[in-house]
Amino acid sequence: MSLSVLSVASECFPLIKTGGLADVVGALPKALAPHGAAVRVLLPAYRQVMAKLAQAEECMRLTDLFGGGARLLVASTDTGLSLFLLDAPHLFDRPGGPYLDAAGLDWADNAQRFAALSLVAAWLGQGLLPGYRPDIVHAHDWQAGLVPAYLALAGGSRPATVLTVHNLAFQGQFPARLLDELRLPRSAFVPEGVEYYGQIGFLKAGLNYADRITTVSPSYAREIRTPELGMGLDGLLNARSARLRGIVNGIDLDRWNPATDPLLAQNYAVGSLEDRAANKAALCERMGLDQDGSPLFCVITRLTWQKGADLILEAAPHLLEAGGQLVVQGAGDMQQEAVYARLAERHPGRIACVLGYSEEFPHLLAAGADAILVPSRYEPCGLIQLYGLRYGCIPVVSRVGGLADTVIDANDAALSAGVATGVQFYPVTAEALRDAIYRTIELYRQPGHWRKMQRNGMISELGWEVRAGAYASLYRTLVPESGAAT
Ligand code: ADP
Ligand code: GLC
Repeated sequence: MSLSVLSVASECFPLIKTGGLADVVGALPKALAPHGAAVRVLLPAYRQVMAKLAQAEECMRLTDLFGGGARLLVASTDTGLSLFLLDAPHLFDRPGGPYLDAAGLDWADNAQRFAALSLVAAWLGQGLLPGYRPDIVHAHDWQAGLVPAYLALAGGSRPATVLTVHNLAFQGQFPARLLDELRLPRSAFVPEGVEYYGQIGFLKAGLNYADRITTVSPSYAREIRTPELGMGLDGLLNARSARLRGIVNGIDLDRWNPATDPLLAQNYAVGSLEDRAANKAALCERMGLDQDGSPLFCVITRLTWQKGADLILEAAPHLLEAGGQLVVQGAGDMQQEAVYARLAERHPGRIACVLGYSEEFPHLLAAGADAILVPSRYEPCGLIQLYGLRYGCIPVVSRVGGLADTVIDANDAALSAGVATGVQFYPVTAEALRDAIYRTIELYRQPGHWRKMQRNGMISELGWEVRAGAYASLYRTLVPESGAAT
């Protein structure tokens, strides 16, 4: 039997993206189809989203959704996604980003905006739309955290709920006085409900009420049960550990394929790695970097504490001294971006920075750089190390979360067994990063080992097929009549 899944999220590639969440929400539906799960994504009809859709049809009107009228629209993308869009102009039709205004501040009505998304998801789960009743409602992150709560608190028959945590640091906490306005019963304002340190916790609510919780790697699933990375929710996560599991993210192997990628100077494959050199030359040329055979490191990141943006700055002088070069694609606040811009100015030919966000440039970076630095302090999964593996760009990663689960460190044992795919370091300090850079440069100077690592990464299991199977099995345990797990 085919399963019907409603996926609820605040981002979805290619329509709206601030990070990996969008990639995952956008890729899972296609990957789940062969496993017999038909997914529809419910997304806010942000102004940017509507601008990208050629067509969207109204299927229902909703009166009075937190201060205004709203419509439910159906649409599909040319990438094959089936969508519901919550068109509530008073909440979503505005300039700026999905969470922040143009000045970088949280929208003052984020509680209402994402409670509205969650409430409508719950209504859809209860059969609001004639002829549509999903078996599973799959909520992503705090923005959809109230979905399991609204469904459980409504009582009666309801679909099973899954909550996926992409980053426990973002929890969506709002003042208790909004309880009535958000249509949450006062009886739910208890630690076993939606209450979280005196406030309403959207993510906390989801963790409490969801039938199953997943996060995006097994290591992160363990880490968030500790006080160090549990961010105040480790107690709850321990109490619900039987319902919690980690499933590693995949990447879209069609969009990220060095053999066909139109954004490269030269396509290549595992059997023609020598062709990769043309991409390094094109990258150096474009960025004004010396072309002298130095090991070229790249970084593609949000410039934040989580991602270790400060550690890269500290390690950069050592990288240069050891003969390396660095190219950064980084988006952050003005101050962080200015620091990186100055670093590049001081080291012409050796360090280059592209500030801001680009969907295209990371492809050439992954194809042209020799290694990619990912020194995250914590990383639920991480996608860029997977792009690195796929493109023969050796990942140099901290041994945390999904980075620990997806990269095999080039220690003596792994090198002699011929299975290494990258370099890991721990603890997450500038010194350990510096040493990992030294170790990477040594490996770079041993072409036999280097080529083997590149090949291992390029042929490793990086797509969604197996991972989507894990989600499908999870769904089927919740809907036993849908048949055996695939
Ligand atoms: P996170 O979601 O925590 O930022 P991920 O590694 O899961 O981390 O996903 C990041 C996604 O955003 C990837 O698709 C990556 O290519 C992209 N990305 C991050 N920073 C930038 C940037 N400055 N420019 C372009 N793409 C970026
Ligand atoms: C979050 C995490 C990242 C993960 C992504 C997609 O943004 O920070 O590690 O890869 O979600 O799940």
